[in-house]
Amino acid sequence: MTRKLFVTTALPYANAPFHLGHIMEYIQADIWVRHQRMSGHEVNFVCADDAHGAPIMIAAEKAGLTPQEFVGQIAAGRKQYLDGFHIQFDNWHSTDGAENHELSQDIYRKLKAAGFITSKTIEQFYDPVKNMFLPDRYIKGECPKCGAKDQYGDSCEVCSAVYAPTELKNPYSVLTGATPIMKSSEHFFFKLSDEKCVEFLRGWALQDNRLQSEVANKCKEWLEGEGGLGDWDISRDAPYFGIEIPDQPGKYFYVWLDAPVGYLASLKNYFNKTGKNFDAFMADPKTEQIHFIGKDITYFHTLFWPAMLKFSGYKTPDNVYAHGFVTVSGEKMSKSRGTGISPLRYLDIGMNPEWLRYYFAAKLNAKVEDLDMNPDDFVARVNSDLIGKYINIASRAAGFITKRFDGKVNTTWATADDAFLQNLRAVTTEIQALYEARDFGKALRAVMEQADVINAYVDANKPWELAKQEGNEAKLQEVCSRLLEAFRILTIFLKPVLPHLASQVEAQLNIGALQWADVYAPLPDQHTINPYVHLMQRVDPLIFDQLFDAPVAAESTAAAATATPSIEPIADEIKIDDFAKVDLRIAKIVNCEHVEGSDKLLRLTLDVGEGKTRNVFSGIKSAYQPEQLIGKFTVMVANLAPRKMKFGMSEGMVLAASAADEKANPGLYILEAWPGAEPGMRVR
Ligand code: 2FM
Ligand code: ZN
Repeated sequence: MTRKLFVTTALPYANAPFHLGHIMEYIQADIWVRHQRMSGHEVNFVCADDAHGAPIMIAAEKAGLTPQEFVGQIAAGRKQYLDGFHIQFDNWHSTDGAENHELSQDIYRKLKAAGFITSKTIEQFYDPVKNMFLPDRYIKGECPKCGAKDQYGDSCEVCSAVYAPTELKNPYSVLTGATPIMKSSEHFFFKLSDEKCVEFLRGWALQDNRLQSEVANKCKEWLEGEGGLGDWDISRDAPYFGIEIPDQPGKYFYVWLDAPVGYLASLKNYFNKTGKNFDAFMADPKTEQIHFIGKDITYFHTLFWPAMLKFSGYKTPDNVYAHGFVTVSGEKMSKSRGTGISPLRYLDIGMNPEWLRYYFAAKLNAKVEDLDMNPDDFVARVNSDLIGKYINIASRAAGFITKRFDGKVNTTWATADDAFLQNLRAVTTEIQALYEARDFGKALRAVMEQADVINAYVDANKPWELAKQEGNEAKLQEVCSRLLEAFRILTIFLKPVLPHLASQVEAQLNIGALQWADVYAPLPDQHTINPYVHLMQRVDPLIFDQLFDAPVAAESTAAAATATPSIEPIADEIKIDDFAKVDLRIAKIVNCEHVEGSDKLLRLTLDVGEGKTRNVFSGIKSAYQPEQLIGKFTVMVANLAPRKMKFGMSEGMVLAASAADEKANPGLYILEAWPGAEPGMRVR
């Protein structure tokens, strides 16, 4: 039976480029989706930018852009990542699109009509200078417990105490420095505490096979914990970048209300473009709605979201699959700062996107576990398994078929009792089931076991020796044809993970797009293949030196420097007073863009805490995409005399590291400040 699938990944905030965690989630979902497509099922795989909320509004204002312009710039940067890693969404939309405004308001109206919306007046901190209510993250002060200064409104980074912003001593607004005042306002709440809601969620969350067991257990705790579920505050006061609440001027939906509705909005937008009927699709009991998400947003997806849908009369999700975080060599990558590995740099330095797809797949299972990316492990899996075991088979067999047999395979031997190929075909259903269950690591292990069997056949039959022996032509053609057929089947097994490689193999074998059913349809006798071209390079372990952000790269450069002293000579000694003349400041890169007509420069808009921004041209275009830099904190020379350049005035200079021999090692690395440093702080 053909399935009708509606699949999403979490919608990323439109305030930063993708980090490796996003790419991992997209690859996980993309593999699953490709597996479904190869089975002949209908899949609608969509995503969108999560555009709303106070942080985006504030970031846009700082960048001197409207929120729409700001999210538009981020959205424009998405394609290079998705195409680069062969992530094939059917549609990419925005939660600020018209469909989302309509759907969110519709859901709200229906919830209200069903009695699930209530309102109450609450008191919150308000910035009297900026004239806005302050989200917790925008209030700082002294920790009520340990007295540490400059702690956020929700928790203390020094003693880990958790508190309400109103408990902070000497609170101040992060936006203006003003002392916040308490102000009351009417807020709207979704009545999650309603007994009908709790009852529904219990049934939904605990239904067999809907959630991973660890997620279902968490839901149970949330539902049955002390006090049960509280009502959920779904409104925010103007100014806010979001969707207006119907009939409530000046009130907006909290971003987490309209964000998941963005799943439906993106699907609707896709259907409108392709002439499909959204309402009919969502009303069809056959439709399965499946969300891939990170473990940190489980609460929203397993409580708020299904409840919102249920009590507004929409279809509820069939499955929510949570994954863990990506760590790099055992260390946590920071979501907000994007430290660790930049996916764009991975592509820019020429690393093969399918190595990463293979590596992630090899380490993924259906549990909510973190996935550690480790260079040695990466090299071993790609070079020994993917290339050593799989690619190797084609390189052993295809050349002989081309050179000795005019590209023709002989498959007259491929009878029904051909045990070698029958055994290989017999594992198909097991591998399909593992893909279905998102147990990709196990699926790949099963494929590599088959590759071992095939390689043993290569060693037992030694085509390179048969090729030297006269009178063994028929045997050579048979062995190589059999190997190519085995390689073709392995390619089907790996295609969800390696779609680009599979298409190269299809071209090479001169066959159409492979589907699961093709496992049982061997190459026809006398079929002609195309000449062999090498399919995939091995990973050079040294490439990781270029991939990692500063701390790891610095370590390896230091090691290299001890071996060969190739650094630039240290400059003449100076006195501390000489150094003090250089005024170095922490600068926030609030915007960055290409400079038309220049192949070297990027235009940076820097916030050095002066209440205005500075314009600085920097010759770092070869090393960074503008969107990689937006939001980063770097170091600038703030008292350098302004320079008039061809493209305008440059009001300072940012610092970047480069090697002595820039020809041999052209890398450029701008400095990045540790978390906590703020625009305008002096570097001394
Ligand atoms: O955590 C996040 O990055 C959110 N932008 C995820 C939203 S998922 C969905 F609800 F839109
Ligand atoms: Zn504290």
